[in-house]
Amino acid sequence: MKKLIIGNWKMNLGLKGSLALARALKGLKSKNEVGVCPSDFALAGVKAVLGKSQIKLGAQNCFWEASGAYTGQTSAASLKELGCAYVILGHSELRALGESCRRVNLKAKAALARGLTPVICVGEDWTKYKAGKSRAFVSGQIKRALAGLKLGGKQLVIAYEPLWAIGSGRPLQAEAADATQAFIKSEARKALKQSRAAVAVLYGGSVNAANAKNFLRQGNIDGLLIGGASLKAQEFKKIAETH
Ligand code: PGA
Repeated sequence: MKKLIIGNWKMNLGLKGSLALARALKGLKSKNEVGVCPSDFALAGVKAVLGKSQIKLGAQNCFWEASGAYTGQTSAASLKELGCAYVILGHSELRALGESCRRVNLKAKAALARGLTPVICVGEDWTKYKAGKSRAFVSGQIKRALAGLKLGGKQLVIAYEPLWAIGSGRPLQAEAADATQAFIKSEARKALKQSRAAVAVLYGGSVNAANAKNFLRQGNIDGLLIGGASLKAQEFKKIAETH
C-alpha cells in the first residue's frame, strides 16, 4: 500500500514564502502519496504553482456549515473548490485554543460530504503518556470524533501525534508508535462499525529526513504528518521520497 506523507506548514509562511516552497517541491517524484497544507490564503496560489505535480493540496482546518454568517470561517465546499484533497482537523495546536471533539466530529462530517479526506489528529500529553494512559485517552478522542460518521467507500485518515513529540525534537519510538497505531486503527473501525473501513493512520511528531524510514517501515504506520521539517524543501523531499 502507498504511504501518505503530508506536510503541515502551520502559520509559518506568508504568500510569497508559500509559493516559493511550492515551486521548490513541485518536481518531486515519489511512490508515496504526498500532500502539503498551506494557510488558506495561499491555497489557490500553491495549487496554481503545483499544476500537474503529484503533490496534492490540503487545508489546516474547515468549518462545518456550508455557508452563511460565520465570519472568518472557511467551508469544506470552498476548500474543495480550491482543489483540496484533505483537511487536517483537530490538530493539538487548535485543540489548545479550545477546539472540541464535538466540533472535530461536525467538521469531519462536512469534509466527507464535500469529498475531502479528513485527517483527524489525536494524541496524549506527557502526563498521560507517562501514566500509561495513552490508549484510553486517544480511544476517547476517536469515539467522539467519529461518532455517527459514515465513510461509505471513502477514506479517513487519523494522525497520531503525541503532544510532547510535536516540535520537540523528541519523537516517539517507532515501535511504540506502531503498536499504538494498530490500536488506533482498530478503535476507529469499531467506532465506524465497519471492520474493513479504509482508515489510514499516520504518525506525527518530530519526524525528519533521518528518522522517517524508521517509522515508514513499521507495518501499522501508513504515513507521516510533518510539521517543521515540511518547511525545508530538500528535507521534505527526502522524507516524501522515503519508502
Ligand atoms: P513537527 O509537527 O513535525 O514539527 O513535530 C508535527 C505536527 O504538528 O503535525
